[in-house]
Amino acid sequence: MKKTNIAVLVSGGGTNLQALIDAEKAGIIRSGSIKLVVSNNKDAYALTRAKNNSIDTRVVLRRDYENSHDFEAALIGVLKEADIDMIVLAGFMSILSPDFITEFRDRMINVHPSLIPSFCGKGFYGLHVHEAALEYGVKVTGATVHFVNEIPDGGKIILQKAVEVQEGDTPEVLQRRVMEQAEWIILPQATEMVAAQLAERK
Ligand code: GAR
Repeated sequence: MKKTNIAVLVSGGGTNLQALIDAEKAGIIRSGSIKLVVSNNKDAYALTRAKNNSIDTRVVLRRDYENSHDFEAALIGVLKEADIDMIVLAGFMSILSPDFITEFRDRMINVHPSLIPSFCGKGFYGLHVHEAALEYGVKVTGATVHFVNEIPDGGKIILQKAVEVQEGDTPEVLQRRVMEQAEWIILPQATEMVAAQLAERK
């Protein structure tokens, strides 16, 4: 069976990208293959992780385009050029338009560092999510992998995993625990689930 061609979209450190790369090497991801890493930040360490693993990279900067329509057209261009079937948003800090989402409907997933529907939607990204969780005083948080639709963090949930908040947690400490105990586990698992479905249709 043909494998699903996966692109990972990133903006920062890329620890989730690393988890995906490691999972492909370990055979946890076996129905798909990471063909391309696209960053909207030229300094993203995720790009180095991709290069270290001989994965093609592209940088597409919003500021190089007059408007977000042209920026997204450029993104779609690089994805089509690489014959991408599936997109994984792994710390990609830019909200995509309904047109882009339509182009990749049911073929694009995202990892979010909370148990959706808590602490999600506009403004909830990265460390802010964990700051909000600690401020609220929740005792359990976690991570969610979901399909991307027009509602920020509102698409159908694929996998979730709970993580305990501990006394004295800082946002940074909690972020790390959520990554280690949830994100780096469920993102590769969900990627394989969706890649397997798409590979059947190839
Ligand atoms: C991850 O915690 C991811 O869940 C979060 O950004 C971090 C990226 O880290 N994404 C969001 O908040 C999206 N709303 P990474 O670059 O090390 O994978």
